[in-house]
Amino acid sequence: MKNFWLAVCLIIITCTGFVYAVNQSNQGGLMGKKILVAYFSWSGNTKSIAQKIQSKVGGDIFEITPVTPYPEDYNETAYGVAKEQKDKGIHPPINNKDVTPYDVIFVGTPAWWYTMAPPVMTFLAENNFEGKTIIPFVTHGGGGGYTIDKDMEKLAKGSKVLTPLVVYGKGGSSVEQDISEWLKKVGF
Ligand SMILES: Cc1cc2nc3c(=O)[nH]c(=O)nc-3n(C[C@H](O)[C@H](O)[C@H](O)COP(=O)(O)O)c2cc1C
Repeated sequence: MKNFWLAVCLIIITCTGFVYAVNQSNQGGLMGKKILVAYFSWSGNTKSIAQKIQSKVGGDIFEITPVTPYPEDYNETAYGVAKEQKDKGIHPPINNKDVTPYDVIFVGTPAWWYTMAPPVMTFLAENNFEGKTIIPFVTHGGGGGYTIDKDMEKLAKGSKVLTPLVVYGKGGSSVEQDISEWLKKVGF
């Protein structure tokens, strides 16, 4: 009889520990929400991170593309069109996606002139993000993530913007692990 009650106690302790661990791994309560991974990428780095995120969290993936593509030449894009859009605050027309069905939207961008790329500005400004959670991810060429999360918050009115993932280029050999650790931090 004594052994029976000992076994019952052990089962209760094990179950409580399991429930606690599950709760801890989903602190933000984001699991089970409808997810979109939206990104713009000019030379492929942000696309590669977007695909890795989506393979881990599921949901839909969407590439934000400008109606008028940027030139393939780096200088023409960087010092021509992109610089002009940044300086003049232009939000170029994009092939948009309605975010209404989604609760959590990962938004990926390369750092362009110390902030997000202009097509991502359009995406944030032209959709309704009221009550939605935005999780930014940024790839850069050495400058870091700047204040891109704050910039996103200003454009996506009424949204909650979580801690961004900031990656140099495509990320190094630990990129998969870096993404997994960051996902845990933001609630997955
Ligand atoms: C127009 C343009 C502007 C850029 N501005 C910055 C910048 O301000 N800071 C930075 O660290 N890298 C800058 N870069 C480098 C990109 O952020 C970096 O290469 C990024 O990983 C490219 O992502 P993608 O391959 O998805 O386009 C710039 C690149 C371009 C083309």
